[in-house]
Amino acid sequence: MTSTFSTSPVAMSFPIPNLVFDDCNPQRWNGGSVVKSQFWNSMSSLLPNIEFCAIRSLMPLMPQIDDVKLHEEVLLFCDQENAHGTLHSRYNREHLHTNYPYLKNIESWERHCFSWMSKFLPRRLFLSLFVAVEHWTAAFSQHGLSKPEAWFAESDETMFQLWEWHAVEELAHKSVCYDVFRYFKGGYLTQVAGMLLLLLFIMLPGICLRLGYLFAKDKVWWHLRTYRELAIYLLGRDGVLRCTFKDFLSFFNPRFRPWDIDSLPLIKAYLTQISAV
Ligand SMILES: [Fe+2]
Ligand SMILES: [Fe+2]
Repeated sequence: MTSTFSTSPVAMSFPIPNLVFDDCNPQRWNGGSVVKSQFWNSMSSLLPNIEFCAIRSLMPLMPQIDDVKLHEEVLLFCDQENAHGTLHSRYNREHLHTNYPYLKNIESWERHCFSWMSKFLPRRLFLSLFVAVEHWTAAFSQHGLSKPEAWFAESDETMFQLWEWHAVEELAHKSVCYDVFRYFKGGYLTQVAGMLLLLLFIMLPGICLRLGYLFAKDKVWWHLRTYRELAIYLLGRDGVLRCTFKDFLSFFNPRFRPWDIDSLPLIKAYLTQISAV
């Protein structure tokens, strides 16, 4: 299928895992660590709002996308984000909202914030937010799948399957929002503005507020060792932010393209792994 806008080299079809979270301990599922578990719990609470908002923003644009391959990829992208949002929402409902009820308020504020932005931001700037989100999720996925033991050592098997499947699909569809943004003539400055907007108004406050609340609820908020462990997990050797920092910077290169980093080997390895089960 020919396409002048799609830059995706991979088919985007993966089975949705059948996951049961009954035995998961939300406070310690990641290697028994409150810090590591709550970091990813914060992401799990944040992501569904973004994913559902991306779908609501892309679907009305579909009739304007004449490029057949890109059109199909946007549909698959929406299917995948819908599946991620649904599964994470179920985990959030079963384990996070029951133990940490204030998360529901944070999620509700964010929903209002997203709907305000969707109404008042120029279309290209709003789209650029999702280009930036997809860049972050792809960077996290690339490194998380390359060295799972560094971020998810001795984690709950079901939770690891959730994040592993999510990461593979993030890699497979990592260029779709970028391609749509380009299709609607989004330019470099808007792309950069989207990343700054995302970081300053969504990611940083969203993660910090959640982590502060979760640590306070777990009564580890005032322990120095909490922040030492968090700093090591994020910035130490194999740290989440340290590993992804170079990728983050690559977004500001005017020649940046999502598939500059080859994710095909990781996707193929996952397909081989699930077909062997
Ligand atoms: Fe996702
Ligand atoms: Fe995504």
